Amino acid sequence: MQTIYFDYNATTTLDLEVREVMMPFLGDVWGNPSSVHRIGRAARSALDDCRYRLAELWRCKPSEMVFTSGGTESNNLAIFGTARLLKPRGRHLITSAVEHPAALHAFDQLERLEGFEVTRLAVDAHGRVELQALMDATRPDTTLVSVMAANNEVGTLQPIAEIGAWCRERGIRFHTDAVQAFGKLPFSGMDAFHADLVSVCAHKFHGPKGAGALFIRSPLQPIPILVGGGHENERRAGTENLSAIAGLVEAFARFVPSPVFSEQQLRPMVLELSRAVQSLPGVTVRGDPTLGLSNTLAFTVAGCDSMALLAGLDLEGICASSGSACSAGSLEPSHVLRAMGVSEAESNALVRFSLGRKSTAEEVSLVIDALPSVLRQIRGG
Ligand SMILES: Cc1ncc(COP(=O)(O)O)c(C=O)c1O
Repeated sequence: MQTIYFDYNATTTLDLEVREVMMPFLGDVWGNPSSVHRIGRAARSALDDCRYRLAELWRCKPSEMVFTSGGTESNNLAIFGTARLLKPRGRHLITSAVEHPAALHAFDQLERLEGFEVTRLAVDAHGRVELQALMDATRPDTTLVSVMAANNEVGTLQPIAEIGAWCRERGIRFHTDAVQAFGKLPFSGMDAFHADLVSVCAHKFHGPKGAGALFIRSPLQPIPILVGGGHENERRAGTENLSAIAGLVEAFARFVPSPVFSEQQLRPMVLELSRAVQSLPGVTVRGDPTLGLSNTLAFTVAGCDSMALLAGLDLEGICASSGSACSAGSLEPSHVLRAMGVSEAESNALVRFSLGRKSTAEEVSLVIDALPSVLRQIRGG
């Protein structure tokens, strides 16, 4: 049976040429970049090259980045580090109700354990934050706003430039989790996000897992969440994972400035899928497939639950997801759909197809052909 991978928002394959660029750092260049001897210096020089190359791509200073272990750590560093730094100025933080758990849970913890007050902005039926809601929520003691660029579950894009402009005018720091945007939306440099902090995660654009970065606009210095040595300009302790960093930078260069998720290729396929699923009984498309990420289609199936749907699709060789990979295996209703006003039962019946560079029209047809019988079997059983 053919396997159809429609789960590119969860992760992507490691590109073979990116892997080649990583290999020397799993072999000959094995030194610790902090060692003063020649073996260490060879590693340091490679690390510096990576940083300068990425800074050119980001159009920022080399000092405006911290290499991390991925999207989760980047979000944690941005949110904990900035909230704690600015606590003497204010304890009010703003985020949205549809963020990835790597952001939401950081805010939960700041509220529960550290005396912060958090406003979680409501969203409209498509999952979009309304600017007016942000304006109404802003207070004199607001220090940090964090709103994602593109939603991982339903693909909705947020009005990041407007949010950034609002924050900048008021001296409020703005973080965006742009993990799902890189490689999917045009990229001209970090300034385009109008943010002080931007989270990046390599495995979403054919780089290695466990590799990420955080853009930090100078002179902001979030308080480190990992302490120890003085790595990354005192901002993130721990011996650098050079192969991961080299992979991140290579994947960024290859797949972000000219997005590897081609809208021209993917949007028509997603729209065809969308039309087909909408014609099935009880199916509702969530988010807006004409305006959101061009590779993502999310829908709910009344009377079914996500786990049964994913298992049924898997039996047909179709790899899909129920939203964020973190909730795969659990029956938690999608917090994103709940925030969009979807009932609890239907929030438990989410299927997300996310297509990518190897997706074909033939695969789309096979999925469209398989879906009716998958739904019949679940409903009949
Ligand atoms: C929007 C978003 N933010 C953060 C993350 C976390 O990335 P990682 O699990 O690689 O740390 C993900 C991964 O699914 C994501 O989609």
